[in-house]
Amino acid sequence: KMASPMITQFFPPLKNDLILRAARGEKVERVPVWLMRQAGRYLPEYNAYKKEHSADFFKTVQTPSMACELTLQPLRRFDLDAAIIFSDILVIPQVLGMDVNIVEGKGVVFGFLLETPADMERLNTGVDVTKELHYVMEAITLTRHQIKGQCPLFGFSGAPWTLMKFMIDGGSHSPLPKARKWLTKYPKESHNLLSILTAKVIDYLVAQIKAGAQIVQVFDSCAGELGPIQFNKFSLPYLKDIYYGVREMLSVEKVEPVPMVVFAKDAHFALEELGKIGYEVVSLDWTQKPLHARRLLGAKVTTQGNLDPTFLYAPHDELKLAVKDMLEKFGTKRYIANLGHGIHKDTDPDSVGVFIDATSKQNTTGTEE
Ligand code: CP3
Repeated sequence: KMASPMITQFFPPLKNDLILRAARGEKVERVPVWLMRQAGRYLPEYNAYKKEHSADFFKTVQTPSMACELTLQPLRRFDLDAAIIFSDILVIPQVLGMDVNIVEGKGVVFGFLLETPADMERLNTGVDVTKELHYVMEAITLTRHQIKGQCPLFGFSGAPWTLMKFMIDGGSHSPLPKARKWLTKYPKESHNLLSILTAKVIDYLVAQIKAGAQIVQVFDSCAGELGPIQFNKFSLPYLKDIYYGVREMLSVEKVEPVPMVVFAKDAHFALEELGKIGYEVVSLDWTQKPLHARRLLGAKVTTQGNLDPTFLYAPHDELKLAVKDMLEKFGTKRYIANLGHGIHKDTDPDSVGVFIDATSKQNTTGTEE
């Protein structure tokens, strides 16, 4: 009988586990590196693939063979230490019944937004995300095979507050802070919505891990829209529930836990707290000062980040100096090199190569090989 806990034993053996070791605080030969949004529009092969298959964004996300191919594209070009499954955080609002689209030139477009708590009745809150998002799990399993153990595969999800923010304010900038207004005007209903989202995120991450994700990241990209008071009430407790909820469910199902990364963008005020809610890795945005952040996070977590994505527009020798500076500040232990946010779509892929090579040239003593 093929019980789910046995799944992983059928995957090709992992040849590069640097990221997993760095996440657990173990010794590494060199600093591992990957980039947020390493797949996507800055890669000519990505644009060509979408065109060739006349596939819009969500078609590629929903077709496992396409999602797998797009996940692997950056790995063929660069010496990356991780892959991230090609998908989007907005698949959860989508299966809750909000019609979400990515429209060329417009960005994220929702069929309807939550105006008042009464609109929550339009959501299919009983949805089983493990069923409705099964295509993501299939894409993960397929990719784990195709990647042939080259490096670990990330699964991911949006954080409850960030999903709530999109569901109320939509993708483009709303002239009023409607989602934040909900937090003060409808605190009870806001907590209700956040609890619903938290339960979905836990189910979804567990399903991704069972399908083969070897590490997962929770994106709280809109954390910085909150101040410390609202963050501590409406985001932090849910991030913590996700960490321990995933652990608990994995233990019940006898599945090995995987390292978890939290990325709370622009949450300067929350570093001390973020180091204490379980996550093995705290990912830092590019506005954080490495040494200061390290001090506030404490010694028990691994940091990830945080080069300013616009530094990829710099001449290559300047870019190399910026990478060197970053590595000196973070040190080489308990550290994963990355950008401080996703790559911009007009980035030159060659600069991404320079970033990656400049990082992996550093050995654990911090000097160039
Ligand atoms: O390599 C990877 O990281 C690919 C997987 C990935 C995507 N989105 C693909 C994508 C991941 C991890 C995300 C996360 C995501 N999506 C976040 C959190 C990270 C962050 O940047 O803060 C957020 C906020 C979203 C929501 C979202 N999806 C936005 C704002 C957009 C851009 C809309 C636009 O046109 O400007 C998307 C679309 C999207 N997600 C694209 C990709 C490759 C581009 C779509 C296309 O090809 O047309």
